[in-house]
Amino acid sequence: MSGDANALLDEIAHIGVDRQRGGYTRLVFSPPELELREWFARRAGERGLRVETDGNGILWAWWDIEGAERRDVVVTGSHLDSVPGGGNFDGPLGVASALAAVDLLRDRGVRPVRPLAVAVFPEEEGSRFGVACLGTRLLAGLVDPERVRELRDESGRSFAEVATDAGIDPALIGPDPARLQSIAAFVELHVEQGRGLIDLGQPVAVAGAIIAHGRWHMRIDGRGDHAGATRMVDRQDPVVVAAETIRALRAHALVVDEARGTVGRIKVTPGGTNVIAASVDLWLDVRHRDETAVRRIVSEVVAATERSADAEGCTVAVTEQSFSPMVAFDAALRERMREVLPAAPVLDTGAGHDAGVLAAAIPTGMLFVRNPTGASHTPAEVAAPEDVAAGAIALADVLESLITR
Ligand code: GLV
Ligand code: MN
Ligand code: MN
Repeated sequence: MSGDANALLDEIAHIGVDRQRGGYTRLVFSPPELELREWFARRAGERGLRVETDGNGILWAWWDIEGAERRDVVVTGSHLDSVPGGGNFDGPLGVASALAAVDLLRDRGVRPVRPLAVAVFPEEEGSRFGVACLGTRLLAGLVDPERVRELRDESGRSFAEVATDAGIDPALIGPDPARLQSIAAFVELHVEQGRGLIDLGQPVAVAGAIIAHGRWHMRIDGRGDHAGATRMVDRQDPVVVAAETIRALRAHALVVDEARGTVGRIKVTPGGTNVIAASVDLWLDVRHRDETAVRRIVSEVVAATERSADAEGCTVAVTEQSFSPMVAFDAALRERMREVLPAAPVLDTGAGHDAGVLAAAIPTGMLFVRNPTGASHTPAEVAAPEDVAAGAIALADVLESLITR
């Protein structure tokens, strides 16, 4: 049905279902994500949008203006990759709502004076290669393409290999300033990841800011041995050190008002019940409005880990995988969105987004759609059908204002 984001979401509800974890696992360039990208290209093509894949694997579906150049364009869109065991809204809601908004604009007989594109960004979650918002970071020149080609997924496959299999030439990834310069505004609609709209009784909000956040990979090396034959005093157990890392992160994040510190992924090698581990890989996710607070928490946790590693006879190596400073969205665009949507409150978010990366280069804004559980990165994430519909209308209203003047 035209203009129906709920129907579009229903079409993809079977893709990437994760029977083990629950929810969806749609890692970038994996079969489910590639199926979603094909679905998007098909649905965009049926709408007469011209679909292209750029050098960074970003999909662009263009509503061009006959005879006009792609200048001062307006872009909307989001991502189709997910975290392991995520919901069906984080990402796909913005993509489905963008297609629905195109339908609504056409139903209204809107005649754009500038082109509109719907974009789908790869690896927003960083769930496969570790770097969040990888597609937009490449586009904006915020990550070294050489480093990206060498990034490895869980199975040891490089980005270059995986991208090649997905039909993307890894030699072509990297900054695209001409494309960025052609964009006048980017607006991403996203399911709310939090409870702000529940308490305010509104279906849609305009984003104010994204707090600073980053990810660090920590590798702790010890000495693998036998769980029964090795005396406690003789052990060099990296799991004991990892436990101290996790405890320290909780302790240091707790004492900083509104800080967030998470270890959500740990890999114990070789990983046997009766085996003292040889190594542990773990990942820290730390967030706060103030980036110096984020860095302070990380350095305190690293120091605590190093002390514990010394005592245990282990070694520690830490690598920053990605860092996103606090983003305040473009004030003029935000005011324009509020004029169009006067009932929508302004909410900040603790979640990262491609919009946050693009905000460094172009005027950018976001819309959030109410989530009755407030939960995200879990199958419990949800948006009511009437709010999904309200979100698509709000996006269409904002886009109409942007493409007609
Ligand atoms: C992405 O959703 C993030 O905030 O990490
Ligand atoms: Mn998202
Ligand atoms: Mn997410």
